[in-house]
Amino acid sequence: MEAFVKVAKVSDLSPGQMMLVQVGDERILLSNLEGQFYAIGEECTHAYGPLSEGELYRDTVECPFHGSQFNLKSGEVIRGPAEEPLLSYSVRLEGDDILIGPL
Ligand code: FES
Repeated sequence: MEAFVKVAKVSDLSPGQMMLVQVGDERILLSNLEGQFYAIGEECTHAYGPLSEGELYRDTVECPFHGSQFNLKSGEVIRGPAEEPLLSYSVRLEGDDILIGPL
C-alpha cells in the first residue's frame, strides 16, 4: 500500500470491537482499543485463519483456528503456534474517516 486509503468511519467501530477491511487484495484487521484505532494483517500467519472472526481480549486477538494470539497494536505473536508477526499499518483520522497507510 503506497498511500493512505479511507477504509471506514469512526462511528463504524466502537471501543473493544474489530472489523475486517479490504484494501485491494490485502485483508486488514481494524480495531478500536479505548478510542485508539490500530490496523494489522487479518490473516493468521500460521494457516490463514480469519482473525476478524476470532476473539478480542484487551489488546490481543485470538485466531479462531488454532488459538494463536497477536498484539493488535504491533502484530507481534503473543502465543503460537504462529511464529511470524502480522504486518501492521499506520492509521490516520480525518474527521469521521479512518484511513490506513504504509508504516
Ligand atoms: S491458523 Fe491461526 S493459529 Fe492456526
